[in-house]
Amino acid sequence: MERPKLIGVVALSAVLGCGLFSATHTRRVVASAGQLVQTKRVSRRDLAVRGLASSMEHGYIPYESLLHLPQVTAKVEHDASFTDMHVLSVKITGVPLSALSKALQVPAEKDLLLARSDDGYVGIYPAEYVAAHEPILVLTVDSMTTAAWAQKTGNVELGPYLIGYDNFKPAWHVLAHEDRPQALSVVLELEYKTQQQVFGPIIPAARFGADSPERAGFAIAKQSCLRCHAAGPYGGTKAGLSWEVLAGLAKRDGATFAQYVHDPKSISSKAKMPANPQYDAATLQALTAYYSSMVKQ
Ligand code: HEC
Repeated sequence: MERPKLIGVVALSAVLGCGLFSATHTRRVVASAGQLVQTKRVSRRDLAVRGLASSMEHGYIPYESLLHLPQVTAKVEHDASFTDMHVLSVKITGVPLSALSKALQVPAEKDLLLARSDDGYVGIYPAEYVAAHEPILVLTVDSMTTAAWAQKTGNVELGPYLIGYDNFKPAWHVLAHEDRPQALSVVLELEYKTQQQVFGPIIPAARFGADSPERAGFAIAKQSCLRCHAAGPYGGTKAGLSWEVLAGLAKRDGATFAQYVHDPKSISSKAKMPANPQYDAATLQALTAYYSSMVKQ
């Protein structure tokens, strides 16, 4: 029995040794990112971040540290996070996502930010989108923490963090789909990735040219559907139906697929997916064509 025990001790100290080494190493890297990121969660309100640099894959930012970054104030009206509660206008303050990635010294090649919320939604923020819309990581609502605001107004808590906008204006449209505010509440984690990592595996095949319905469908799907329907390890889990499942449905019965996207309740009275009444036939056809093309041969 002596030998196995000894091996156990050696293995354990090797693991601990690595742990200590990476912890001290990490702390040094963090210091250069303004000592924003901690290696351990201290509070439930800490914001988790991933993908900053290879030596600092995962860490936490305390709420109080975020308050020390550049802040902006905006009056938001008809924001999706609030309209469900019949709150039509609030004042928000927070850190622009662009200022946050600057403070975190996010490597330039990380051109996509994913924000995960606790209810299975994922906000998808490509670099061009962040530059065009300056999304805000919201820290206060009507000058209160989200928790205090919820208590005072009798609404559900949307925190610890939300993502909101100062006067969102669509920057593009594809067919009947307009660029949308990726509003998100109960944000728990930000992850910095590359568009190649996330979108690469779901790009239409090269034979579908720039003007094809498949490319148009992809442009819509990666902004809209990916929020709730996961593609591999990325995207939302809200729907519980993956990209491959949607692809199979589109290929098997395109008409029902299109009808579901247009008006889910017309297919199933219990459907929770939001309807897209503004999508015309060409838009629905583009989405169906895109997903059908994603069926693995
Ligand atoms: C806000 C979240 C959300 C978004 C965005 C979303 N879906 Fe869904 N989707 C769901 C949920 C949840 C379901 C599961 C059934 C239900 O409750 O409607 C679903 C189900 C579906 C189904 C039915 C599958 C079946 O079982 O027959 C299709 C088809 C579908 N989604 C396509 C899409 C497409 C295409 C897009 C993008 C244009 C999209 N969805 C965007 C949440 C979403």
